[in-house]
Amino acid sequence: MLGIGYANIGEEDKAIKEWEITLKKGPDNLVALDGLINLYSKENKVYRLRKVVKSKLSVVIDKLKEDLNKEDRAYLVAEQDRLTGLRKRLDTQISQKQKVSTFKKVVSKAEYDAAEIAARNNGEKFSSSNYKVVDDDKLESERKKQIRKLIESYGKDKNAVTRALQLMVEYNINDPELLKLATEKQPSMKSPDTGAPHREINFPISGSASSTAVMISSRKTIKMRNRIRRLPQCLEALRVRRDWTDRFATVLPDDAEALLKTMYAGAAQAGADGNLHAIDSVTRISREQGMLLYHLCLERKPKVVLETGLAYGFSTVFLLSALREIGRGRHIAIDHLQSSLWQGVGTQRGLQLGVEDRFSVIEERAEQVLPQLAAERLRVQFVYIDGDHRFDGVMLDFTLAARLCGVGAVIVFDDLWMPSMRCLARYIKANRRDWRRIPSPHANFCILEKIGTDEREWDHFVGF
Ligand SMILES: C[S@@+](CC[C@H](N)C(=O)[O-])C[C@H]1O[C@@H](n2cnc3c(N)ncnc32)[C@H](O)[C@@H]1O
Repeated sequence: MLGIGYANIGEEDKAIKEWEITLKKGPDNLVALDGLINLYSKENKVYRLRKVVKSKLSVVIDKLKEDLNKEDRAYLVAEQDRLTGLRKRLDTQISQKQKVSTFKKVVSKAEYDAAEIAARNNGEKFSSSNYKVVDDDKLESERKKQIRKLIESYGKDKNAVTRALQLMVEYNINDPELLKLATEKQPSMKSPDTGAPHREINFPISGSASSTAVMISSRKTIKMRNRIRRLPQCLEALRVRRDWTDRFATVLPDDAEALLKTMYAGAAQAGADGNLHAIDSVTRISREQGMLLYHLCLERKPKVVLETGLAYGFSTVFLLSALREIGRGRHIAIDHLQSSLWQGVGTQRGLQLGVEDRFSVIEERAEQVLPQLAAERLRVQFVYIDGDHRFDGVMLDFTLAARLCGVGAVIVFDDLWMPSMRCLARYIKANRRDWRRIPSPHANFCILEKIGTDEREWDHFVGF
């Protein structure tokens, strides 16, 4: 009857009781805690949510603290402090319940109808007061007006700019003038690398206050509940990370280490023309992410590894080193800009590892190559997706690469800080039951394992 935080309609109270009993039996039972938090939130049981957070969280955290290392412990203490603050705010919120302001979404009549139907289909409450319906020809200008007003309220509302940026994504409005205004109002929203506004969301283990953005939400309570709800996952992520401490600290064979040292130091690298080319400091995965790929590959022992997005070849060096260590398997890297934009630097770094007979580079767009590989009946057991980062681009890479995979294959993709990538992860979770997500020790990676066949009906779709 129960899933985590789900119950049959009309049986929610019964489900809550069952989870409460489970939680009493084992106070550190994160699954039970997660289930309860979800149900309380869904059922709008704010008082009980506050109670369980108050009474159970400290027990859970104390228990975990015992076996966590120093760094993790420091993080947890900070997390606990944050939650104490959160609890206080939740208390205030409850006492001022009536004062919670709602933020109306500006929608067309068609969008309004669709939202109402979706709510009805999902058995959710639909509140017409959450929407402002406008004529189609005024939709964009009304939305822009709302966003501008929101940005201008920054100061009175410290989350206003973040919310405005989130709305721009949601409404699909890319207005340079509004973006400029947003970063003028709140300069910290500017990315230090590109100067463009960044819209990061808080990751379970990155922990820094600056990387915390507000979830799209019209009401503060929902935001708080969401943060509390994520805590069990966040603790689980810490556990996984701790299990990886030793693997992160390992070193690669000398030649690979020496190569990576020059690359991470930002030294100019030889390209296909034999000349040295300067490399930028952004286009790369971190060493920790590289070690994760390396060890995952060592564990899985794939016959064929496929990578979209080669660039300077950082990830390639880690993956090829693992294949060399295993003693078999080949690596295919796809990047249509390898010669033109990257001057062949990535290809050369791969070749430097001395396994040229097991390394090939295809200089075409991944979305063109992957169907060709499928037509050739290639099977791959390990895929790393780091090419086109636009939603439709990664969606294509995932969908097409998945067709080359059998049960047990792994697909990893990077940059979960990007909305497009998180959206893909949500899509897979909601729609692709043939893939399961493996807990990742790195918050920016999504690791998936193929666990079955794709048996969806032709018209299957679950919103995400
Ligand atoms: C973030 S970089 C890859 C970094 C690399 N994995 C590393 O760790 O060093 C993204 C790369 O994807 C490539 N790319 C973008 N769109 C692509 C597409 N449709 N097909 C293949 N490669 C693509 C770009 O040329 C770029 O080299």
